[in-house]
Amino acid sequence: MKIAFVGKGGSGKTTLAALFLRHLAAETPAPPLLGIDADINQHLAAALGADESTASPTLGENLTAIKEHLRGDNPLVTSAEDMIKTTPPGRGSRLVGIADDNPLYRRFVRDVHGVRLAATGPFADSDLGVACYHSKVGAVELLLNHMVDGKGEYAVVDMTAGADSFASGLFTRFDVTFLVCEPTLRSVGVYRQYLGYARDFDVRVAVVGNKVVDQDDVAFLQQHVGADLLGWIGRSDHVRAAERGDIRPIAALEPGNRDTLRRMRALVDGVDQDWAKFHRQTVEFHLRNAVAWANGRAGRDLADQVDPDFVPGPVSLTR
Ligand SMILES: Nc1ncnc2c1ncn2[C@@H]1O[C@H](COP(=O)(O)OP(=O)(O)O)[C@@H](O)[C@H]1O
Ligand SMILES: [Mg+2]
Repeated sequence: MKIAFVGKGGSGKTTLAALFLRHLAAETPAPPLLGIDADINQHLAAALGADESTASPTLGENLTAIKEHLRGDNPLVTSAEDMIKTTPPGRGSRLVGIADDNPLYRRFVRDVHGVRLAATGPFADSDLGVACYHSKVGAVELLLNHMVDGKGEYAVVDMTAGADSFASGLFTRFDVTFLVCEPTLRSVGVYRQYLGYARDFDVRVAVVGNKVVDQDDVAFLQQHVGADLLGWIGRSDHVRAAERGDIRPIAALEPGNRDTLRRMRALVDGVDQDWAKFHRQTVEFHLRNAVAWANGRAGRDLADQVDPDFVPGPVSLTR
């Protein structure tokens, strides 16, 4: 299952993504997990309690290797240069799982206290003017487009702030999108904006309130978010301690907050994946990108990369 954390900057996306991952990692049995930090400001590793000196290679640095691996021997994608962030998988492509042992994961996935983590990499000065962050986040989009996962497995993506993700098809890649929302008008404003885009693409959004202090905060969220409000996380001493470098066990999280994490997992577990829709949107965004910029660069119509008879899913993994 592919899960995103989105919301206004500072709302708590990284904090909640880390808590959710740590909660899942502590379950018995621990499910297959992959955390992906796709934010410009790379904080997920730290929120999971990583020692920064152990940073590993990033997705952004490995974009060519990612393309080489994923294109496999797909006859429609004959070189890594030909592959753009939206190039869909087809027959011959290599698909990845959440916890399989593949050369890509060996390169850039590391273990952070029981959570397997991949990071996009920070926006470097050298990116300015030549590329936007979206080309790095493109590595995440490619990976998710080629990822076949199932129930009881979780890829959790900490996304960039606000509505930036709509610049690509990335926001449509998820089975569940958790929108983190503080009890403030600005945060609710981001929720409304997100819903506008999400509705057009049938994106399943569940709101998780955060930094809730009292009943007034709850009433505010209920009033503005209504039935989309799945639950909320209170302003947490556990989280504040982590900010001071004191990472406490997830079992020490306030019980009400832990219950919300359970409810989040239950929501994800109840969702049925729709691979035909998933792939249809992969293709749709590829065709948009092709027309918008990539055909001009490639000097041909990249619609020729679409394998018309292919749909990824559990069956396509058996190759
Ligand atoms: N439930 C919470 N209780 C206390 N502090 C929180 C809580 N959630 C987030 N914070 C704090 O708010 C700040 C922003 O959170 P962060 O997760 O980095 O936001 P985002 O990733 O959305 O930008 C951090 O200092 C974090 O520790
Ligand atoms: Mg963040």
